[in-house]
Amino acid sequence: MAQSDESRPAAVLLAAGRGTRMRSRLPKVMHRVAGLPLIGHVLAGLAPLGCRAEIVVVAPDMPEVAAAVAPRPTAIQTEQRGTGHAVAAALPALGNTAGDMLVLYGDTPFIRTETLLRMLERRRASDNPAVVVLGFRPEHPAEYGRLIVDGAGHLERIVEFRDASAMERTIDLCNSGVMAIDGSQLRSLIDRLDDRNAKQEFYLTDIVAIARKDGAACAVVEAAEDELLGINSRADLAVAEAVMQTKLRAAAMANGATLIDPSSVFFAWDTRIGQDVVIGPNVVFGPGVSVADGASIGAFCHIEGATIDSGCSIGPFARLRAGSKIGRNAKIGNFVEVKNSRFGEGAKANHLSYVGDTDVGARANIGAGTITANYDGFDKHRTRIGEGVSIGSNTVLRAPVEIGAGAIVGAGSVVTRNVPADALVVARGQETIKDGWATEFRARKQRGRKDKKKE
Ligand code: UD1
Ligand code: CA
Repeated sequence: MAQSDESRPAAVLLAAGRGTRMRSRLPKVMHRVAGLPLIGHVLAGLAPLGCRAEIVVVAPDMPEVAAAVAPRPTAIQTEQRGTGHAVAAALPALGNTAGDMLVLYGDTPFIRTETLLRMLERRRASDNPAVVVLGFRPEHPAEYGRLIVDGAGHLERIVEFRDASAMERTIDLCNSGVMAIDGSQLRSLIDRLDDRNAKQEFYLTDIVAIARKDGAACAVVEAAEDELLGINSRADLAVAEAVMQTKLRAAAMANGATLIDPSSVFFAWDTRIGQDVVIGPNVVFGPGVSVADGASIGAFCHIEGATIDSGCSIGPFARLRAGSKIGRNAKIGNFVEVKNSRFGEGAKANHLSYVGDTDVGARANIGAGTITANYDGFDKHRTRIGEGVSIGSNTVLRAPVEIGAGAIVGAGSVVTRNVPADALVVARGQETIKDGWATEFRARKQRGRKDKKKE
């Protein structure tokens, strides 16, 4: 049992940095890309590896991060004294460190599972490298640490930008920060770090030179820059969002969806789009949306927490909120807001309505300007609309209320009591029609004006 456990890697995610350049009260790793906190992206890339432990290193004042990563354990790094110091803080929670250990950064969200697998594979190669570092060649190497590799391609050491010589700064092979470390050497390597450097921090990167002094090999695996984007500022966050959206749009199209103007469609990390779905311009998806085959989403829709079945027509200008389940071939038209409601097959709300906490039966038609008044100032209540019901325009359904199957609600009604199946309900002021009244009215007014002029 113990052996098979060690064959799975452990992972340490560093997230204790203050992220001062974000200028935020929120910890850096809680900022979102495509609707998911940065740390969530890292965990998603890691998930298929089935790690035997995933430990997130946080600072003492980061309860949000602990909540976001639960039930995974967090290790608290009381002072932020560098990446090596952060890994040391995770060791007690890690217990047994035999086997491989991955180190990832919470602010480098796009690391791919396949890349982590390549690193683990390299770690197990016959030269048994103590440390495998994930390198990349960014267009602008800027202040990344540089990887110093010997003529044979062995990694000798990592030099931080601030500590690098002018020559070393010209090296284009950079440190992404991600490492796979031989667990049996990990403690001994970490124990020997010191803070004699420009930042007076315990750099994790120094374990490479220490391992080499021990006579162990160290290796580099390379990956593409867009996968290793690190986020330090709001500007970086915007770049990351753009990179992610480009990927999500490409994936939706590769999967058989038509995006009329891809650059104006915004997906969440978990949006699921079926085949032959057509999405118009300027559509925004929040988390938790799935759209089944053949549905169409018109321009300017905002959709979150909604399940849209096949053949539905949504929008333009529709808003679907959490808990909306739109059944097959249903239609939600312009300026309709739907929240926590189910639409049965073929049901329609085509214009200008609010439908909240409602069950709409199959083929029911909700007329323009209908409102379900679901909130009494204290509690939310449900509305039940039966199959084939016809709701006239400008109706208020005051919940809790039930409209029986096949019933018709007259336009302009305020309905407060349950309506039986196949009944007609009309609840509006009595109409009064007076023949010739308008003619008399105008004549009276005109006489009044002439009298005033004479005065
Ligand atoms: C680090 C690397 C650098 C690499 C770069 C890639 C070191 C010494 N340098 O530099 O070679 O090119 O990342 O992005 O490792 N953190 C803690 N506790 C700490 C310090 C940091 O948890 O005490 C966490 C941060 O939250 C962050 C990560 O470690 O997620 C990286 O820290 P950061 O200070 O951003 O490192 P860089 O200076 O960018
Ligand atoms: Ca950084």
